[in-house]
Amino acid sequence: MKVDVLLGLQWGDEGKGKVVDVLTPAYDIIARFQGGPNAGHTLEFNNLKYVLHTIPSGIFQGDKTNIIGNGVVMDASIFKAEIDKLAKAGHDISKKLLISKKAHLIIPTHRLLDAAYEQSMGKSKIGSTLKGIGPTYTDKISRNGLRVGDITGGRFDELYNKLKSRHIAILEQYGYDYKAQLEEYEAGWFAGIETIKQFKHIDSEQFVNDALTADRSILAEGAQGTLLDIDFGSYPFVTSSNTVCAGACTGLGVSPHAIGEVFGIFKAYCTRVGSGPFPTELEDEVGQKMRDIGHEYGSTTGRPRRCGWLDLVALKYSVMINGVTRLIMMKSDVLDAFETIKVATSYKMGNEEVTNFPYEIPDHLTPIYTELKGWNTPMTAVQSESEFPAEFNAYIQFIEKYIGVQISIVSVGPDRSQTIRL
Ligand code: GDP
Ligand code: IMO
Ligand code: MG
Repeated sequence: MKVDVLLGLQWGDEGKGKVVDVLTPAYDIIARFQGGPNAGHTLEFNNLKYVLHTIPSGIFQGDKTNIIGNGVVMDASIFKAEIDKLAKAGHDISKKLLISKKAHLIIPTHRLLDAAYEQSMGKSKIGSTLKGIGPTYTDKISRNGLRVGDITGGRFDELYNKLKSRHIAILEQYGYDYKAQLEEYEAGWFAGIETIKQFKHIDSEQFVNDALTADRSILAEGAQGTLLDIDFGSYPFVTSSNTVCAGACTGLGVSPHAIGEVFGIFKAYCTRVGSGPFPTELEDEVGQKMRDIGHEYGSTTGRPRRCGWLDLVALKYSVMINGVTRLIMMKSDVLDAFETIKVATSYKMGNEEVTNFPYEIPDHLTPIYTELKGWNTPMTAVQSESEFPAEFNAYIQFIEKYIGVQISIVSVGPDRSQTIRL
């Protein structure tokens, strides 16, 4: 058996949570491989809506095993809040969620450091979700981190206090007023540690590889998107993990040979939340129309998402980096009421026209668009490909031809049922 990987091809929020939920019945195991509670993965079914931050999106379809992999960073208090909310809604996932001992813990002072760093950068801030992601991965790489396996390792308090002291020294250097917030965060965090203790902590790399040997199928769930990847995204306006397919290998402990299908998800247009370059951004009424129709406000932070036309230059780059084998187009319905739809097919930089995603997106870059006729038909009730308007088929074919990979799923609304397999 192989591990199929599902990941975002743009700047996150493509609809990964929805599609993981839809695909879950075909798998035995769903595993998150990177990121942390900077993610907000939304699922809708039976007129209910759930937003998951740390927990994989495979928990609502039967008794599938869900794993928080070693590449994930978890905040105990946010995890507890997620578990409590699910329990209140009647979902006890204590038997079906397993946590890697090697997953790193976001401690309260990581969140404060995130805030202190962002504050100190003023206008050039990253626009982080302020969940402590950057500082936690920094400690992981600099070999100072605290891991889930440490919780029951006998030296937890000592390790926690050592890390906290290092952080406090930095916070003081930054003149950041942390005391009141720290007290509040710590209370919730230590309660969350008790919640984490109620789950099984495993050597997830062994578990995952044993499962493959036993012919059990696995879907790896990515967070964020390729253009937020620490290596390949619009650095430094990125997150701090490898969001790309290779991240599934390091974030779960599987060999590249074990990767099967790579599902790449993109919106029929583009959004971005936080700072950083966005070539096709529309800061006008067209962008506002997308934001209004698509309810483009962050699932984690509530911030308005920046909106713009589909960028095929960037999409092709993402498909290349990930080796995408199947494309999934989300939120097609948001473009239902546009007379004309534009897609960027190259960029103009000075006198030069480029089709490769450049090292940096300079201010003078302008996208060159191809205009396509809108379908002007409500798509949210469409149930099969045979009902697609001709202009919608033309949009799909244009994208497939440019990218060279087929679109195998189209999403026409937030609900689980509004999903069409091609
Ligand atoms: P994720 O982070 O990739 O899981 O995506 P988010 O959950 O942050 O953002 C996607 C948003 O779009 C959520 O509010 C979803 O409920 C919603 N959504 C997903 N698919 C569709 C779709 O096809 N059409 C519409 N209108 N909304 C969708
Ligand atoms: P999902 O999984 C959209 C963005 C932040 C910021 C940058 C760095 O829901 O698609 P961080 O807190 O990671 O240090 O922030 O990355 N960002 C996301 N944008 N969706 C996400 O996750 C994101 N996770 C982080 O807005 O620009
Ligand atoms: Mg999201």
